Formats: sequence, structure tokens, C-alpha cells
Amino acid sequence: MAQQVSGSPFLKPFSLRAAVRVVSPLQQRRHTLPASEFRNLTPQDAISVFEIEREAFVSVSGECPLILDEVLNFLSQCPELSLGWFEEGQLVAFIIGSGWDKERLSQEAMTHHVPNSPSVHIHVLSVHRHCRQQGKGSILLWRYLQYLRCVPGLRRALLICEDFLVPFYLKAGFKEKGPSAISVSNMQFHEMEYTVGGQAYARRNSGC
Ligand SMILES: CC(C)(COP(=O)(O)OP(=O)(O)OC[C@H]1O[C@@H](n2cnc3c(N)ncnc32)[C@H](O)[C@@H]1OP(=O)(O)O)[C@@H](O)C(=O)NCCC(=O)NCCS
Repeated sequence: MAQQVSGSPFLKPFSLRAAVRVVSPLQQRRHTLPASEFRNLTPQDAISVFEIEREAFVSVSGECPLILDEVLNFLSQCPELSLGWFEEGQLVAFIIGSGWDKERLSQEAMTHHVPNSPSVHIHVLSVHRHCRQQGKGSILLWRYLQYLRCVPGLRRALLICEDFLVPFYLKAGFKEKGPSAISVSNMQFHEMEYTVGGQAYARRNSGC
């Protein structure tokens, strides 16, 4: 059974829904890790997050969306806007978000969390390199977007991405809002928006 993280009303659904595993008494061991678990991240996960992020981004663009201090900051301030996928206790994919209260994302959104906001800014979605192209990124994003429906007052998810990932996010139900005002190291981005609860599949009972 996975440890439950206390302190947020949002942490319960993931630890309960995904971590429960039926094991017969004969198979029972004291420290069995769940085969697959989705849960909000905590500051203790920051190193694992940063290792995946560093591998994914530094070799490609030389820049991580979030440096380690920022990861720690967001996982302390708004763990309920993050989601990790763990297999046998190892982090294999994650999303980190923070609150945002303006119509469009600006440079300030890169480092700030605005509590009780109607929008979540998704800073980073990353899958461990050994687990890519297996559908994990799409599944994690889908679960995250479903989960956001349980966060009171949350209406939208916003993110910026490069050209090549626009089709990935369109497939997940995002719409393109046009070029972003944000630039990092001369890289240009598209801003993408998802309306929480606005998709056809969102009408299904998500169990939250
Ligand atoms: C982008 C990422 C999250 C996708 O996760 P994934 O588990 O590999 O993706 P899935 O298997 O769910 O979906 C595959 C789809 O992703 C898209 N995709 C993934 N990586 C891509 C890339 N480098 N270039 C173009 N499309 C890509 C494609 O649309 C692909 O569709 P296809 O299978 O029809 O070709 C993952 O590749 C990753 O972590 N990349 C490095 C970090 C990153 O770029 N994060 C996103 C910006 S924050």
C-alpha cells in the first residue's frame, strides 16, 4: 500500500485509486511496492523529477523548463497540481503545474504560483527515456486532465510548447491560442489551452 500524503484534500483520490493491490496472504511481503501508482508529487520526489527532466531537456536544448529549486518550490507550494506515475516505486513520468490567474501566460508565470486560481499552468510533462513512445505521456496527461476536474474552481489548463509537440497536445484535447509571449533562449513557443470539463469524455464518471 502506498503512503498517503496528508495536508491536501486533493491527494487522496490518486493514492487510494491506484495504489491498492490485492495480494494473497501467501504472497504477502512486508515491503511490497505497488506495480503502478499515480499520485501527487512531494518535495521528496524533486531529485527523481529533476533527473528525468535533465536527461529529457539538457541534451536537447540545454535548458530545463524548471531548475531544481523551482521544482522544489512548486512541489512545496502546490503539490496538488502535480502528478507522478510510479512503477515499482520508481518515477517514470510526471507533470508539474502551478496556479495562474491571467488570460494568457507571461514570463512571470514561469516562476510563480498564484493560489486558488482558475487556471493551471503546466510547466512540464516528461516521461523517462526508457518509457517513451509507449503511450505513457498521453495516459498521464489524460489522467491529470481528469483529475483537474476535482480541483475546486479550476477551469483551464495552459501550457507552452514547441512546434513539434503541437499535434501531441491537440490530440489530448488542447486548442492552440497562438504564439506565446514567452521566449527562453530565443526559442519560440505556442500557447495551448484545455478547458477542464469541456471535453466529451469528461462527462464519464471519473470517480473523484
Ligand atoms: C513528449 C513526451 C512527454 C511524450 O510522451 P510519450 O510517452 O513518449 O508519448 P506517447 O507514447 O504517449 O505518444 C506518442 C506521441 O507523442 C508525440 N511525440 C512524442 N515525442 C515527440 C517528438 N520528439 N517529436 C514529435 N512528436 C513527439 C507524437 O505525436 C507521438 O505520436 P505517434 O506515436 O503517433 O508518433 C515524451 O516524449 C517526453 O518526455 N519527451 C521529453 C520531454 C518533453 O519534450 N516534454 C514535453 C514538453 S514539457
